[in-house]
Parts: sequence; structure tokens; C-alpha cells
Amino acid sequence: MGFESENAMNTLKLHTGRTIPQLGFGLWQVGDAAGVTEAALRAGYRLVDGAAIYGNEAGQGQGIRASGVPRDEVFVTTKVWNDRQGYDETLRAVEESLARLGLARIDLILIHWPCAARGLFVDTWRALIALQAEGRVTDIGVSNFNADQIDRLIAETGVAPVLNQVELHPQLQQAELRSAHAKRGIITQSWTPLGGGRSFADPVIRAIAVRTGKSPAQVILRWHVEIGCAVIPRSSRAEGLAENMDIFDFALTADEHAAIAGLDRGARIGPDPDHFG
Ligand SMILES: NC(=O)c1ccc[n+]([C@@H]2O[C@H](COP(=O)([O-])OP(=O)(O)OC[C@H]3O[C@@H](n4cnc5c(N)ncnc54)[C@H](OP(=O)(O)O)[C@@H]3O)[C@@H](O)[C@H]2O)c1
Repeated sequence: MGFESENAMNTLKLHTGRTIPQLGFGLWQVGDAAGVTEAALRAGYRLVDGAAIYGNEAGQGQGIRASGVPRDEVFVTTKVWNDRQGYDETLRAVEESLARLGLARIDLILIHWPCAARGLFVDTWRALIALQAEGRVTDIGVSNFNADQIDRLIAETGVAPVLNQVELHPQLQQAELRSAHAKRGIITQSWTPLGGGRSFADPVIRAIAVRTGKSPAQVILRWHVEIGCAVIPRSSRAEGLAENMDIFDFALTADEHAAIAGLDRGARIGPDPDHFG
């Protein structure tokens, strides 16, 4: 992968020329978002993944301020929820997110789901382009989009998302979509990267854990990093946050990559994006 240094501040380059930390942490279903955000940033994380629908953007912002980490060193992501799609509605929704976060600028805003049946995602995208021009958001991306939907954004606006955040774990490896992203200069970011723990007891993962002296979760997160994905595991525990960050002092072998590739079942945990919202 050619990292300059191997730690939680590894970055990937976005097609806009800016960078994104490869590892971050997520706030879905995190009750104490302020406490977890503060703890994670103090522990060394530099990317926090939130969303309006998580209901904890205020805590996300509080945690950033309480951490003492300078604002410019924290990469803040949030997302536009499905019922706020459409040009004007999205402009309002992002201003509301900014107010809840207590920030003047969001590093990365994503369209949370395409909701293709509603036919609004291109208008929503145009609103994000306008917000980017105003400096309210630095980079713009999508989540749960397929390659055709991404191509439609590009064809109709000339602007490609910097990133697509999708469900991705050993049982759902998304090889085709990852390849489509790579061809378009788009980063793949993995959500539910630990796959609900479904592969923790798998003999392939366990054998790598034994060889490397790492936990199954660390082996899986290392795999995400080595296949070039950005990744945002969630833990509400200080030990979990520390464990999930401690993945930069070992490497998987080519044989281990081949063995993990064999675990793909095309099995989703979350909803099918083509039929959600
Ligand atoms: N764009 C989307 O549509 C979308 C959808 C889902 C999620 N996301 C984002 O992706 C983030 C991560 O996904 P996720 O929260 O679904 O799942 P995840 O990060 O794959 O897994 C979280 C679960 O694993 C446990 N865990 C964390 N670290 C562990 C470790 N080292 N060993 C054992 N268990 C561990 C956590 O429990 P403890 O808290 O007890 O550690 C929690 O129950 C979310 O927080 C959110 O930001 C986005």
C-alpha cells in the first residue's frame, strides 16, 4: 500500500487531492457520542463517522471540542438522511447538521442511501455540490450507492463522489463494486466492518489470529486496510477503541488474503440498498 507511516493516522488520497484517515470510528447506536468521541480522539483516532439519523451529532461535536484536538486535525463525516433528499431540503438538512455539530464546516457529507425509487438523489447531489462551493462541506460522497447510480451522478453533474461507504466485511467483500470504485478514483469505505462478529470464530480468521497474536477483530480490520479500504469500526468501550486501532504492526500473507477471499458469501447484515428507503 506504500504508507508513509503505519499508524491510525494513515491517510488515503481523495480524487480532490485532499486526504482521509484510513481508519476512523463510527457512532451508530452510540448512546454517549460525546464521551466516545472524546475518548477515541484522545486515543489517536482522527476520523469520526456520524449521521443525522444516528441522533447524536450534538454529542459528536461536543466530543470533538472536549478532546482538545484542533478542529483541523479531525475529519468529520455526517450524512443526509433519506427524508431530507431533494435540492432545497438537503441545503436545509446540512445547515441543521452543522448547527447540531456546532461546526462551521463538515469535512465529508454523504448521501446516506440512494433511495432510487424516489428519484431525488441527483438533486440531492447538486445541493451537496453547491454546499461544497460555499465551503460548508469540504468533500462530498455517497453511501450505499451502486456503480450505475454513481455513474449517473457523474454523467449529470460532472462531479464524482470522493467515496462510497458500503457494507463490507469478510462475508460480503464487494469485489466488483471495489473494482468499479477504483476505476473511477473513488475510495471504498467499509461499514459494519466487523460483520457482526460472524467471522470471528471462522477457522481461517482464528488461524491468522493465532499466528499474529492478534484478535479476530484486529485481523479483520487489518484485512480491510490491506485491501485498500477506509474503515470505521465502532466500539463504545475504551478497550475496544484501543484494540481496533492497534492494527498497524502486523501484516497478512498472500495465502492469508486468498483464504479470507474464500469466506465471501455475498451475505448482507444490513438492508439491500436497491430496496431500502
Ligand atoms: N452508511 C451506512 O448505511 C452505515 C450503516 C451501518 C453502519 N455505518 C457506520 O459504520 C460504523 C460501524 O458499523 P457498525 O457499528 O454497524 O458495526 P461494527 O463496527 O462492525 O461492529 C460494532 C460491534 O462490534 C463490537 N466490537 C467492536 N470492536 C470489537 C472488538 N475489537 N472485538 C469484539 N467486538 C467488537 C461492538 O461492541 P462494543 O461497543 O461493545 O465494543 C459492536 O457491537 C457505524 O458506527 C456507522 O458509523 C454506516
